[in-house]
Order: sequence, then structure tokens, then C-alpha cells
Amino acid sequence: MRKLLLAALSVLAFGGAASAQNFPSRPITIIVPFSAGGPSDVMARILAERMKATLGEVVQIENVTGAAGSIGVGRAVRSPPDGYTISFGHLGTHVANGAIYNKLGYDLVTDLEPVVLLPSNTMIVVSKNAVPAKSLGELLAWLKARPEPAATGTAGAGSGSHIAGLYFENVTGIKLQYVPYRGTGPAMNDLVAGQIDMIVDQLSNSINQVRAGTIRGYAVTDTKRSESAADIPTAEEAGLRGFHMTLWSGLWVPKGTPKEIVTRLNAAAVEALNDPAVRKQLENLGLQMTPKDKLTPEALGEWQKAEIAKWWPMIKAANVKVD
Ligand code: MLT
Repeated sequence: MRKLLLAALSVLAFGGAASAQNFPSRPITIIVPFSAGGPSDVMARILAERMKATLGEVVQIENVTGAAGSIGVGRAVRSPPDGYTISFGHLGTHVANGAIYNKLGYDLVTDLEPVVLLPSNTMIVVSKNAVPAKSLGELLAWLKARPEPAATGTAGAGSGSHIAGLYFENVTGIKLQYVPYRGTGPAMNDLVAGQIDMIVDQLSNSINQVRAGTIRGYAVTDTKRSESAADIPTAEEAGLRGFHMTLWSGLWVPKGTPKEIVTRLNAAAVEALNDPAVRKQLENLGLQMTPKDKLTPEALGEWQKAEIAKWWPMIKAANVKVD
């Protein structure tokens, strides 16, 4: 019996080491918890394409949407810890959702292993073209004069666009009426069509529509203008003080994924982030690349914990009700 147990344990141990040694030996899936075409999906696809070259295996995207990304994250959390399923997420999915959804069914810190901190986005206040405002000040006046709150697109309660909307309400005192979508890709389609009034959106999702003149951009929420949208003032410059928010993204794998596999995935992501063609694509979307000293798995783990400490009090105070 003892021999059998030892044999089983050694298979488990060496089996694990063997799986890490020849990882990857089949396609890898990145679960993006929002609709195709949105800012998360676009960034994930750019990275996946380049990571394929390093890993030598297909890196495919699976969009698993709903409940502000918490369904897709749950799918990744419950997948085998073998490196073949990666969770793409951000401030909304891997911080805010923990403060909003009481029954997430998983712990955002203890049920996931951090892999790498990805580029961040300033947020931008955008509206449909029919809004008669040419500046943030005029937009705020228009919003205040309306009989009912403006229809504001989000990717669901707890999403980055929703947190940004809550922040906007906080600093302006203006109530918004949220319209949830499965991602801000579809929300943007409705904004361009004039079906909703505004979004407090990730710049990467709005920048091309603003450039094309199909929506109006008023202000960005970073402390400095984006080089890719230099004509858009900061909220501070536009007269709205204290509205500072950037939305960072990241990659995680299920808890228990072998460290060698986490290291391998981190190396492939870092190689993609250092690739000049990838950098050009992401920076042209207004994304700010991750600082070099924040590219380790540990750096993402520390960052996520600090962001939870920073955002949970405000989000809990907003008493967001999720249906
Ligand atoms: C959000 O949190 O607003 C999402 O990132 C939107 C998206 O990626 O579709």
C-alpha cells in the first residue's frame, strides 16, 4: 500500500513538473469577461496575437460576458490551474466587483494568481453628437438643466465604466441613469446612434469615434492630457476638480497554477508589451504602458491589494444595488 501511495504521489509531483516543463502543449484561452469589440477585448486580442509567437501555441480569446465581468472571471477561477485558462480583467472586475457582488462565489485575491499588470487607460467623458455642449462646462450645465438623468452606458454594475460614472456623480453632484451592456463596445454603438446620452469611457474605446467626429469628447480623467488625444483637456483644465481615475488591466490564472507556468506566461506577456509594434498599437489607442518595474506577477498582486484598499470604501459607500 505504502509503495502504491509513494508511486501515486511521485506521478502527481513529476506529472505536475512534466506539465510545467512542456507547457504549453495545446491552445491557451484568455477569458475576456466583456463583449467583443470593447476596450478589454481589443487589448486582449492585440496581446494574444503576439504571445502566440513566444509560446508557440494558439492563444485564443473567449468572451464570457455578464454581471460586469464577474461571470467570466468566475469561469476562469473555476478552470483547472494548468495555465491553459487566463483571466483578463481590470479595476472593475478584479477590484470593484468584490465590493459590489456579495455572492461572487470566489475571492478576487485568494482564488487567483497574478500574472502581469497590463497598460492603463485614462477615462474620458463622451456624449452623443446631439448634445448641445461644446465643453465640459456646457455639458454639466446641460445635464443639470435636464428634467431626468442622462442615459449613461456602462458594462454593468461594477464595471470600469460604471465606477467611473459613480465617480463622475460624486464630483459633480449630477445623477446619472445607467444603461448596462455586456461591454462598452455595444454601448459605444448605441452612443454613436444617439440611443444613449453619454459614457464615462476608457479612452481606448472612444478615441477613434472622437477622432471621427461621431461622438463628442469633453475631458479626460488623468492628471495630464493623453498624447494620443492632445486636444482633449483634463477634467481639471476643464474646471472639474478632483476627478482623477485611470483604469488598469491585468492577467491572472487560477490559484494553484504552478509557478513555472506563471513565470512562462508572464515572460510571454512582457515580451508582447516590449514589442515595438504592439506598443505602437496600444499607445495609438491612448493606453499608457506598464512601468518596467511593475511587470512582475508580485507587482500586480501588490497593486491589486492596494487598489482594493483604495476603492472599496467609496464603492461600498455608494451602496450600489445589483439586481
Ligand atoms: C468596462 O469595465 O467598462 C469594460 O472594460 C468594458 C469593456 O471592456 O467592454
